[in-house]
Amino acid sequence: MRIGILTSGGDAPGMNAAISAVVKSAEHNNIEVLGIKYGFQGLVKEEVISLNCFDVDGISQRGGTILKTARCQEFIKEDGKQKAINTLKKYRINGLIVIGGNGSFEGAKELAKSGIKVVGIPGTIDNDLAYTDFCIGFDTTLNTVLECIGKIKDSDSSHEKTTIVEVMGRYCGDLALYAGLAGGGEIIATPEKKLSYDIICKRLKENVDKGKKDNVIIITEKMYDIEDLKEYIEVNLRISLRSTVLGFVQRGGNPSGFDRVLATKMGVRAVELLRDGIDRRFVGIKENKIIDINFNEINYQNISRQKEYDYLDQIL
Ligand code: F6P
Repeated sequence: MRIGILTSGGDAPGMNAAISAVVKSAEHNNIEVLGIKYGFQGLVKEEVISLNCFDVDGISQRGGTILKTARCQEFIKEDGKQKAINTLKKYRINGLIVIGGNGSFEGAKELAKSGIKVVGIPGTIDNDLAYTDFCIGFDTTLNTVLECIGKIKDSDSSHEKTTIVEVMGRYCGDLALYAGLAGGGEIIATPEKKLSYDIICKRLKENVDKGKKDNVIIITEKMYDIEDLKEYIEVNLRISLRSTVLGFVQRGGNPSGFDRVLATKMGVRAVELLRDGIDRRFVGIKENKIIDINFNEINYQNISRQKEYDYLDQIL
C-alpha cells in the first residue's frame, strides 16, 4: 500500500510532528509514504517526494512544515482538480492524508468525489473546526500569544497604559477566548462574543475608575479596524492607548508538548484508518479521546465554546 501526505493552508506548529508520526507508523505497518509538497498545488504540479523514517528524523520539534504549504487557486478549477487526480493515479497513491484547516478539508472532500480515499488531520492555529476540541498548532500559538501579551503587560503596567492586542483566528475567537481564560486580558472581543465600541469603552472606564490603569483589550482579527477602535476610545475616554497586531509571529515557533503529542496521536490514527480501508474521515480530539468522524458531519461554525465563555464572564 502507498499513501500520500500533504500540508495545506496556513502552516501550524505541530504539522511536522504529524508528518513524522504518519511516516513512522506507516513504516511500522509496511505502508509506503509519498510527500506532496506545497499542499494541493504540489498535486497539481506533480511535486512528489518519497518519505522514510530518516527523512523525518528530528522534525517533530520544529515549527512550520517540511512539506511546505500553499493556498492553491488552481486546484479550485476543474482543470487543476483533474491534474491533481492524475498525479495521485500516476504515483499509485491509494490514500491521501490532508493536514490543514477548513479550506484544506474542502479540498479533500473534492478529491473524494472522484474516488480518492482521503483522511483529514486538523492543523490550524485558528482552532476553527468545531468537531474537534483542539486542532494541531492552537496550543503553541496560544502560548506565543500569552508570551507576547506578558511582555506588553510589563511595559503597560510600568506606564499605566492600555493596549489593544489583535490576535489571529480568521473568523474564530478561540485564540482570544483562551488567552482571556489564561488571564491574558481584561476585555475580550471575539466573533462569537462581539462587543460594541461603547461597551468596550464602558468596561475600560469601569476598570480605570477602579484604579486598574493598565489593561489589555484582546480582539480577534477582522472584527474591527484596530486604529479606528483605538481612536474612538481615546476620544471618548480622553486617555491615550497603544495598539499591537501580533501578526505572523503567531504562526511560528517550536510546537508545544501538547501539540506534538496531539499531532502524533492524530497521525497514527490517520494511518490506522487508511490501513484498515476506512476513508472519508476527519480525525479529532473530543473530551481527551482521539476520534474520527465522517467528513460530511463536520461543522465549521464554532458554537461549542459556551462553557468557556461562561467561565470568562466570571473572571473578567
Ligand atoms: O488560518 C491561519 C491564519 O493564520 C489566520 O489566522 C489568518 O487570518 C490567515 O491564516 C492569514 O493567511 P495568509 O497566510 O494567507 O496571509
